[in-house]
Amino acid sequence: MFHIFVLFCLCWWRQIGVFGESVSVMEGDCILLHTNVTEIHEDDDILWKFGAEKSPIAEISRPAGIFSTFDGPDGRFRDRLKLDNQTGSLTITNITTQHAGLYEVEMTAVKLSSKTFSVCVYARLPVPVISSNSSQCSSSSSSSQQNCSLVCSVVNVGHVTLSWYKGNSLLSSISVSDLSISLSLPLEVEYQDKNSYSCLINNHISNQTTHLNINQLCSNQTTHLDISQLCYTSSVSLIVLISAAAAGSLLIVAVRILWICRKQRKNR
Ligand SMILES: *[C@@H]1O[C@H](CO)[C@@H](O)[C@H](O)[C@H]1NC(C)=O
Ligand SMILES: *[C@@H]1O[C@H](CO)[C@@H](O)[C@H](O)[C@H]1NC(C)=O
Ligand SMILES: *[C@@H]1O[C@H](CO)[C@@H](O)[C@H](O)[C@H]1NC(C)=O
Ligand SMILES: *[C@@H]1O[C@H](CO)[C@@H](O)[C@H](O)[C@H]1NC(C)=O
Ligand SMILES: *[C@@H]1O[C@H](CO)[C@@H](O)[C@H](O)[C@H]1NC(C)=O
Ligand SMILES: *[C@@H]1O[C@H](CO)[C@@H](O)[C@H](O)[C@H]1NC(C)=O
Ligand SMILES: *[C@@H]1O[C@H](CO)[C@@H](O)[C@H](O)[C@H]1NC(C)=O
Repeated sequence: MFHIFVLFCLCWWRQIGVFGESVSVMEGDCILLHTNVTEIHEDDDILWKFGAEKSPIAEISRPAGIFSTFDGPDGRFRDRLKLDNQTGSLTITNITTQHAGLYEVEMTAVKLSSKTFSVCVYARLPVPVISSNSSQCSSSSSSSQQNCSLVCSVVNVGHVTLSWYKGNSLLSSISVSDLSISLSLPLEVEYQDKNSYSCLINNHISNQTTHLNINQLCSNQTTHLDISQLCYTSSVSLIVLISAAAAGSLLIVAVRILWICRKQRKNR
């Protein structure tokens, strides 16, 4: 149902010290890495490099008549790069976790200058699923039990937090960075509770929310109400029928149906 996305975030600036720009994006987004020049000059050379190996991925050299992008290591940049011929800025489309890392642009004009970008790519968040803890919900047929046990769960994509909210206030939350563990968080609500509950998953840059529909999840509690409702309406219509009917046999049938309904109600 869900794809298991692997978070691959290289926050180089933490390891190497603060330099350049750091950019956080979601998988599938497109990012613009800008040279911060408004116009490249006739004799400018611009070279974009990626990763620790500094593989060339794009180059502009007006004197040599070069204006090209390269597929990069493993061809991972194939059909994803767009080079701006006015500014030399580089756009990466439909980014994936493979494209996280360090980018460097070298501009050779009158003097050499360079600019560095560290790009973090976050996985798209799956939508959390709220389900009733059925072992708890079915035991609620003893009519004193007014609570519904719920569980919110989600596939872990790494560095996420899962939380229950009542309106805007946080009730509980859980964070796990281990990718192999799927997250789940329980909640006990009274069936009559009219507050709005929601389960939210978030990482540093995005979130996904699922709202609780208690009537849908704990429907077996309403089933009993529905039966008595049914018995009530059928007895009303039977009384109407009885007063209209002169035949005694019909009366016997009606009384018998009413008796069954009452018995059923007692049995609950
Ligand atoms: C961009 O260039 C302007 C001047 O050309 C400079 O003031 C500014 O600091 C530069 N910004 C970055 C992020 O390099
Ligand atoms: C590149 O620049 C030339 C002018 O130097 C212009 O005619 C052309 O449309 C530009 N190409 C793109 C893709 O912007
Ligand atoms: C984006 O990249 C993924 C993985 O390489 C690919 O499956 C998907 O088709 C691409 N989407 C677009 C719109 O190019
Ligand atoms: C359901 O509730 C029971 C009793 O509280 C608990 O032992 C069990 O782990 C719960 N199941 C889930 C999926 O949370
Ligand atoms: C029902 O849940 C409320 C909290 O929502 C709790 O205070 C109460 O003790 C629970 N009742 C039962 C019977 O589990
Ligand atoms: C969830 O994301 C939206 C924007 O997409 C933001 O406005 C909101 O504050 C976020 N909520 C939380 C609890 O982080
Ligand atoms: C309600 O009961 C039916 C069987 O009677 C069961 O299949 C279903 O899972 C139950 N639903 C909930 C929410 O407990």
